[in-house]
Amino acid sequence: WMAHEADVAAILELKRTKNAVILAHNYQTPEIFHGVADIVGDSLALARKAMDVDADIIVLAGVHFMAETAKLLNPSKTVLIPDMRAGCSLADSITPEDIALLRQAHPGVPVVTYVNTSAAVKAASDICCTSGNAKEVVESLGVPKVLMLPDEYLAQNVARQTHVELIAWKGHCEVHQLFTPQDIRDLRDAHPGVIVLAHPECPPEVVLEADFAGSTAVMSDYVAKEKPPRVVLLTECSMSDNVAANNPDVEFIRPCNLCPHMKRITLANIREALETGMHEVTVDPAVADKARLAVERMLAVK
Ligand code: 13P
Ligand code: SF4
Repeated sequence: WMAHEADVAAILELKRTKNAVILAHNYQTPEIFHGVADIVGDSLALARKAMDVDADIIVLAGVHFMAETAKLLNPSKTVLIPDMRAGCSLADSITPEDIALLRQAHPGVPVVTYVNTSAAVKAASDICCTSGNAKEVVESLGVPKVLMLPDEYLAQNVARQTHVELIAWKGHCEVHQLFTPQDIRDLRDAHPGVIVLAHPECPPEVVLEADFAGSTAVMSDYVAKEKPPRVVLLTECSMSDNVAANNPDVEFIRPCNLCPHMKRITLANIREALETGMHEVTVDPAVADKARLAVERMLAVK
C-alpha cells in the first residue's frame, strides 16, 4: 500500500503540473475511481463529460474505445490510455466490412452501433448508442426495423422494450456472458431478500430473472436511491467495490466477474502515462468525421 500512496501523490502532482484530468469508468479499481479520478461514470457520462474538458490532457482510465470516443468529441486535447491493450470483446467482434455486408443483406435498414466499437465501425454506422440510451436511440429513428450491433444480448434485451424489430449480431461481452439464471436462483436461496441488478450485456434469460437491469450508472443510482438492504450487481467486480464505498448502509453480495481489459489500467501505469505522455490515442482522419457524427447524433437523442 505504500507504493499505492506514492503513486497517488505523484499522480495528483502530475495532474497539476501537466494540466491533465483523469476520466475513469465505473469498472476501475477503487484506488483509481476514488483515489485519483476527476470524472467518473458509465460510457455515456464519460463521452458527454469528455466534451467539456478544458485541461490539455485527458487520461482515460478505461478501455480503448472510450479513449477514442473522448478524442472524437474533444479532438484538440491529447488523449492518453495507460495500456494500449485495454480492449473489449464486443469491439473486437465486428469490423466495418461486416457492416458493409449487413447493409447489403438489409438494404435501407439503419445501423445502430453500441459505443463499444472501434471508431472505424462507428464511422460505418448511422448512430451510436450505449446501454443507457439504447431504447431511445432505436426509437428515435422512426422506422420499423433496425440493425443493432454488435451485442446480441443488448439487442435482445432492448427488443423486449420496443416494437421496433432489431436485427442483431453475434458479439458478446466476455464478462457479462458468464452469468446464468441458475446463479441468480442460487443467490436468492443463499441470501433471502437480495435484490439482483444486472447489466443489459447479460444474456436475456439472466436479465429476465433479475429484479432490475441498467447501465453501470443506472445501477449505481438505483442503489443510492432505493437503498436495498442487500444487493448483488451482476457485472464487473469493481462496480460493487466503488458503489459500496458510497453506500455503507447497503450489504453487497459479491459474485462478480473481472474484465481483464479494464484491469490492465493501474495506478502505476496511470502515473507512467502522465510522466511519459504514452500512449496517445488518435483517430484516423479518414474515419473521424463520420464516427463523430454517429456519436453526436446519439448525444442529441439522450
Ligand atoms: P456502461 O458503463 O455504459 O454501462 O457500459 C458497461 C461496459 O461494459 C463498458 O465496457
Ligand atoms: Fe468490453 Fe465487457 Fe470489458 Fe465492458 S466489461 S470493456 S463490454 S469486455
